Amino acid sequence: MPVLYGGRAVHLAGLREHLTARGIAIVEDAAHAFGSDTGPHRVGATGDLTCFSFDAIKALTCGDGGAVIPRTPGEAATLRRTRALGITSSRIQRGQTVSYTVDGAGFRYHLSTLHAAIGRAQLARFPEMDLRRRALWSTYAAALDGIEDISLVDLDIAHTVPFNCTILVPAPLRDEVHTRLRAAEIAVGVHYPLNHLQPAFTQWADPLPRSEALWRQILTLPFHPDMTDNDVHTVASALRRALRLAADSPQSGPTALDQERDHRPRPADASR
Ligand SMILES: Cc1ncc(COP(=O)(O)O)c(C=O)c1O
Repeated sequence: MPVLYGGRAVHLAGLREHLTARGIAIVEDAAHAFGSDTGPHRVGATGDLTCFSFDAIKALTCGDGGAVIPRTPGEAATLRRTRALGITSSRIQRGQTVSYTVDGAGFRYHLSTLHAAIGRAQLARFPEMDLRRRALWSTYAAALDGIEDISLVDLDIAHTVPFNCTILVPAPLRDEVHTRLRAAEIAVGVHYPLNHLQPAFTQWADPLPRSEALWRQILTLPFHPDMTDNDVHTVASALRRALRLAADSPQSGPTALDQERDHRPRPADASR
């Protein structure tokens, strides 16, 4: 289940052959990646099972909901049946549904008509959103260029509809920079807290030192298609100031992010 973080399409061709031979399917978590491509193929047309999210903050939104792209007619039929309570056919007389057939277990996972109507209107706007998101990311890349100590988590803008803008801040400064930017009403975040440090997954957690080292550095900057270039420069200036102040005044006391880290498995747990 590759996660196409930030909208980055992943070339899976080499892996696909190897996994298919072992009977393993690739399910792309393309929640962030609607509209991105790998060159010849858009995400969703790569031949893998692909899941999109259309929630309120995604590049294409229905307000909420999502879509799965099946690979075969059989998978399409299974998805259609299970998304709607296992119903496989309706009996219609004089234009009225008079009965239906339930062929197996199912869920209530269909997109509501209201959400679909929002999505259809948004789809017409998608080319505009696509351009705006790419332009916003490029404005950020230029505005952040030259800020010492940080680095932009890069992406291939020619092939990506960006979902977010993530930077790496040196770990000793990250929490303090986060706190200072939040205090200045700049809506930065840390996306995402690590699953293996969440209480739900503690019993299966192994230490993942690389993920943990990166997690201590990541910071996501405000990223919304309504942001102006001026907004981006305001964020960049506030970031410069926060970095300077954080470097001058090392953090004292635990931050909100430290409390999240408290979910970390204890050494005894980590060995399980
Ligand atoms: C990477 C990723 N995968 C999956 C999801 C879940 O999407 P949904 O809530 O539409 O099911 C999200 C939601 O933001 C996400 O960011």
